[in-house]
Amino acid sequence: MKIPQLDLVTQYKSIKNEIDDAILDVLEKGHFIIGENVKKIEESIASFVGVKHAIGVASGTDALLISLMAIGIKPGDEVITTPFTFFATAGSIARLYAKPVFVDIDPKTYNIDPNKLEEMLKKRYSSKMKAIIPVHLYGQCADMDPILELAKKYNLKVIEDAAQSLGATYKGKQSGSMGDFGTFSFFPTKNLGAYGDGGMIVTNDDELAKKARILRVHGAKPKYYHSVVGLNSRLDEIQAAVLNVKFKYLPKWIEQKRKVAEVYNKLFVEGLSGRVVTPYEAPYNYHTYHQYTIRVSADKRDNLRAYLKEQGIGTSVYYPLPLHLQKCFNYLGYKEGDFPESEKASKEVLSLPMYPEISNEKLKLVHNLIYKFYS
Ligand SMILES: Cc1ncc(COP(=O)(O)O)c(C=O)c1O
Repeated sequence: MKIPQLDLVTQYKSIKNEIDDAILDVLEKGHFIIGENVKKIEESIASFVGVKHAIGVASGTDALLISLMAIGIKPGDEVITTPFTFFATAGSIARLYAKPVFVDIDPKTYNIDPNKLEEMLKKRYSSKMKAIIPVHLYGQCADMDPILELAKKYNLKVIEDAAQSLGATYKGKQSGSMGDFGTFSFFPTKNLGAYGDGGMIVTNDDELAKKARILRVHGAKPKYYHSVVGLNSRLDEIQAAVLNVKFKYLPKWIEQKRKVAEVYNKLFVEGLSGRVVTPYEAPYNYHTYHQYTIRVSADKRDNLRAYLKEQGIGTSVYYPLPLHLQKCFNYLGYKEGDFPESEKASKEVLSLPMYPEISNEKLKLVHNLIYKFYS
């Protein structure tokens, strides 16, 4: 039996008629950029997240970039984030010729550690530090209260990179709703995935929303009159039509994924306790299990992954090299050993097959094969 890490085809088949109709409707109406579908998904996301504004853009990466531009990040500014995230988080900072400043993660949640953030700020705060981007990795929120408190104390803007965590909550608050901006990705693999690229920016700040809306259309308002230099970054109508169909199912799909996580957790505790560390859901969080990521010892991880691949089981490593050690960031001057928890995690994490429709039989098989590998 082959088990992919993610199965988007089964999901498509379960809603095929609705999706096909929605796409055909866009083709028949002939309006492809910023139309009724984009407006509808913006309203749905704003109301779901509980914020005043939602702005559809071309990707989660652009959502970060536009948010940074809207808060006025300039060359030479510094923006704090975690090195254990997808490249886009720090890449967006660097694209504005600002400097990413990394802070290590909490090894249990894989999210930025507020204690280490405080230590770093006490040691090396400078007026160049303008913002912080906490990332809600794998579908659960970073510990936002102490982060927001520190941001206030040091006058830092907060952009939540919620690319992986739409629908997750922190002490009852929706991910993306707590900072100055929240950014989402609709990359096909995400819990709410388009059939191509897409992203969304959310905020409660009227001025910032206005800026972001202008920045996504080359900085023009009115059309052809440019007071700032922006970019071309629109969510298109076809993707928005797909998202409007899928959005209705999001809470159900998240609940199904949480059940999958529960089944995995039980299997691993019964069978492989000690060898496999299952994901930790912080008591203040509602985890959406964008990924179900286990930890195994570094000397076994890659062999386990290869063995599972041989048996037809898809897995992924998010992420094999922390950002402070990426070649393109050599100029930042970081070295191995600077962020031990991120470095350790990058050698130990393994994301297992996880999608709402995966059967218990398949979960048992994944578990049995891992058990077999260890025995
Ligand atoms: C944490 C994180 N930030 C940013 C992004 C960028 O999103 P996109 O791929 O839509 O540009 C992703 C998506 O892969 C992500 O996982």
